[in-house]
Amino acid sequence: MTITGRGVVARRAGEPAHVEEILIDPPGPGEVLVRVQASGVCHTDLHYKLGSVGNDFPYLLGHEGAGIVEAVGEGVTAPAVGDYVILAWRAPCGNCRFCAIGQPHLCAASLNAEPRMRTADGVTLSPALGIGTFCTHTVVAARQAVPVSTECPPVQACLIGCGVMTGIGAVLYTASVRRGSTVAVFGCGGVGASVIQGARIAHAAKIIAVDIAENKLNWAREFGATDLVNARDGDPVAAIKELTGGNGVDFSFEAIGRPETLLQALWARDLAGTCVLIGVPDPTMRLDLPIQQFFGLGGALRVSWYGDCLPSRDFPMLADWYRRGDLDLDRAVTRVITLDETEPAFEAMERGETLRSVVHL
Ligand code: APR
Ligand code: ZN
Ligand code: ZN
Repeated sequence: MTITGRGVVARRAGEPAHVEEILIDPPGPGEVLVRVQASGVCHTDLHYKLGSVGNDFPYLLGHEGAGIVEAVGEGVTAPAVGDYVILAWRAPCGNCRFCAIGQPHLCAASLNAEPRMRTADGVTLSPALGIGTFCTHTVVAARQAVPVSTECPPVQACLIGCGVMTGIGAVLYTASVRRGSTVAVFGCGGVGASVIQGARIAHAAKIIAVDIAENKLNWAREFGATDLVNARDGDPVAAIKELTGGNGVDFSFEAIGRPETLLQALWARDLAGTCVLIGVPDPTMRLDLPIQQFFGLGGALRVSWYGDCLPSRDFPMLADWYRRGDLDLDRAVTRVITLDETEPAFEAMERGETLRSVVHL
């Protein structure tokens, strides 16, 4: 049976998104219907709204959600109705040749549900990153709904679905940060703060936070940064070299998505160090690098996509870390808002006032 809900729709590029009545069709084979309980407002939703990541308007925004499975489609053996789940915007299989070598972003077996959400006037919506969680209900592929401990409440748990997993996974899986390492993080927004937290959990000895905003640097310290560098005060590369006895760091992370800061992250690492690119640049951006410098770079540059995670393995693990007090998700939630307040939340994000606003449904 088709149900009626409410969701945040972006009709045209660059225009404000509004709450609309949404028609949600039942889950098809291999799909599940989820009642969304909370959804974080991530930077990528803003990109969707502005039209900078796709042109399949209208979009149903939101892609960082947690909720309860309300119905399952034909052939679904897991999850079950009533399960508490975090939604994954990509759910690699875990078994193919790419998953087996820790490159799950290349997995071809990661599926989304068919688009099941429509506007009241019958227009099929494109769910952001295939899931569309700024909505009372959404339909996803069964593997995208990952059961986790109910001891991690929805407002916190939803963050695991995108920003937190991206940052922590970049540390644990893409970089494999070792105990005692030195780390620099360029950009301390929602993703960078999670990189910092991941580095703390991995027992990095020195965690240098780089940003241009003082409030972000203060949050960075709360998440575990040991040294703060405001890039407005001078060359951050020089500051990082000075903090590491002239060598540079073992691991540098770029969590902004700009060519200048990617170059800084490359030069801020030790000769034998690794630079991890997380920030997604605008498609027009180019990197201008003398080829000769590749001789000094070696295998230094790695790209991290969704933290190279396997949601079925990693979401329950992170929810458990929260339950044990090892993963701080409370501090990442700057504001809890209603479905009707996503526009002001996007504005607050653009002004740099928030790490995360979370829609509580
Ligand atoms: N030097 C240092 N920090 C900078 C600079 C700069 N030149 N320019 C911007 N920043 C800081 C901002 O002040 C902000 O704190 O980078 C941070 C970016 O954080 P957010 O805007 O909150 O973005 P976030 O959600 O963390 O995502 C970062 O990762 O997943 C990708 O698409 C996402 O590309 C985006 C990136
Ligand atoms: Zn996101
Ligand atoms: Zn796979």
